[in-house]
Amino acid sequence: MCGIIGFTGYIDAKEVLLNGLAELEYRGYDSAGVAVFTDKGVETFKNVGKVAALRNEIPAGVESSCGIGHTRWATHGGVTKTNAHPHTCGKVTLIHNGIIENYHELAAELKNGGRIPQSQTDTEVAAMLLDSLYTGDAYEAISEAVKRLTGAYAFCIMFEDQKDVIYCIRKGSPLVACMAEEGAVIASDMVALLKYSKEYFVLPEFNIAKLTKNSIMVTDLYGNTVTPTMLSVNWDMSAAQKNGFKHYMLKEIHEQPESVKLTVRPRIKRENGAVLPDFSEDKVPDELFLNAGKIVITACGTAMHAGLVGRVLIEKMIRVPVSVEIASEFRYADPIVDEKSLVIVVSQSGETADTLAALRLAKEKGAKTLAIVNVKGSSIAREADYCMYTHAGPEIAVASTKAYTAQLAVFYLIACRFALATGKFDKEQATEFMNELEAVPEKIEKILEERGVIKELSKRLTPARDLFFIGRGLDYALSCEGSIKLKEITYIHSEAYAAGELKHGTLSLITGGTPVIALGTQKAVFPKLISNVKEVRARGAMVILVTNGANTDDMEKGICDEHLVIPACKDEFAPFLAAIYLQLIAYYTSSYRGLDVDQPRNLAKSVTVE
Ligand code: M6R
Repeated sequence: MCGIIGFTGYIDAKEVLLNGLAELEYRGYDSAGVAVFTDKGVETFKNVGKVAALRNEIPAGVESSCGIGHTRWATHGGVTKTNAHPHTCGKVTLIHNGIIENYHELAAELKNGGRIPQSQTDTEVAAMLLDSLYTGDAYEAISEAVKRLTGAYAFCIMFEDQKDVIYCIRKGSPLVACMAEEGAVIASDMVALLKYSKEYFVLPEFNIAKLTKNSIMVTDLYGNTVTPTMLSVNWDMSAAQKNGFKHYMLKEIHEQPESVKLTVRPRIKRENGAVLPDFSEDKVPDELFLNAGKIVITACGTAMHAGLVGRVLIEKMIRVPVSVEIASEFRYADPIVDEKSLVIVVSQSGETADTLAALRLAKEKGAKTLAIVNVKGSSIAREADYCMYTHAGPEIAVASTKAYTAQLAVFYLIACRFALATGKFDKEQATEFMNELEAVPEKIEKILEERGVIKELSKRLTPARDLFFIGRGLDYALSCEGSIKLKEITYIHSEAYAAGELKHGTLSLITGGTPVIALGTQKAVFPKLISNVKEVRARGAMVILVTNGANTDDMEKGICDEHLVIPACKDEFAPFLAAIYLQLIAYYTSSYRGLDVDQPRNLAKSVTVE
């Protein structure tokens, strides 16, 4: 939540900041602001709304080569210009991502020194605190402030009397930095650095970075120099652009054949005709699975839904108990995990506050932890005992699509490796499974070719007020994902139901014309699902039925209003393919409703507050 960027160097800082904020806008878009060093001192410009609105706020002729910028997702205080960052107190101007939990107490203390906040934000109190501690030595002030602040933060700070210098520190919230020809850049996410460098580092927590035109110096709180580990990305700028697509979401939907391929390919070993999952590059040993008496998958939102699919798969194939826990519940539930548990955390960003806290708790309790993460070097990736990266590339649209199918791919690899290690699969069975997995990208392509059909069909959903997804087994797991996707970008109320559960309450909500998306890709429960379809149709529902081409050749005619068929596949692999239909339905319905597909109201991509 909130995107921050700092730059000092040899080119126009204003442009670096505004362009960077546009890349970071997915992290929050309630308001935006920049502060730059000019001949007049530190000048600040803010506006409510998106970065484009901020651009209009900056008068022509503002010249600067150093500044900080922020795009806000409001937590403390409404969406107003006063609450927008940067915030200034005395000599200090700063931007912040995170939440200062003890800001009330601090504000009360600082009042005695005559410092009265102008905004309703926790951030301004941090600026007040730093100003009260600053006597010319930034390190001293920051180190002292850190002792007093509780909560999560990433700060970029400018001190009025230290022209063209930026200091940064973080706890919890992310910050990555790079040194380029143009100067030194620091931001919440690598996408904002990509224009300048593919080499970057993650600022370690509680370390201070000092950015000058020619260098980034990192020290710990005791003044010792730290050399952070350099990371690199193999994407270029186009990976974070729309590349001719109307929205990032549509582009990312279309990238799925490639992202699944990129995630699976490095984990395949071919030997004597056998195709086997191989985690040697990830350094994930079989013992991790063999010693797991119990598996807990914990995550939030879409990442948690990928876990729901993982659970069905692992339980069915390996017969080891798996539970899926919402990370925000897990962390406060005193969960039953110990040294014999394997806790798998899933996160696109690798920075989701609740997921990170769940991971830390699991480690504290002695569990082994494995992270499935998309963003390289993110907190979750670094802190877990083991990490398997999804190679989905940057995901910019708030609605997660390619990260989800890449997470599924990792669960399928894990299930297969686990089955091999435990002897549930022999090499032949594993090869058959892996061949099916390798065939997924081509089948996704086939569905994408049919997007015109979905576009047309989505018109029927555009006026809906409520919509229900139903399914059984893997289809139920996928229904949860279909439902979140639809509601987050179309604002249509939607719910996912285990199809058999409908008549225990929810059926009362089905009235004439209510759309129901019924997922019926699983042969074993297909007749049962069809009975449920008949039940909702008898109450007037408009049913869109999704089936598996492998199972439904002789399906009864006229059983549904719209019928979508995924390319024939083994039932276990259906979620990959049916997911694409659900993503496209959400996308086109949102477009027809004239909504902001990529940046839906009230949401942000990376949820770094609890
Ligand atoms: O970065 P993470 O995968 O940890 O994010 C988790 C959720 O916030 C995220 O999946 C969210 O539910 C998506 N916007 C759904 O499309």
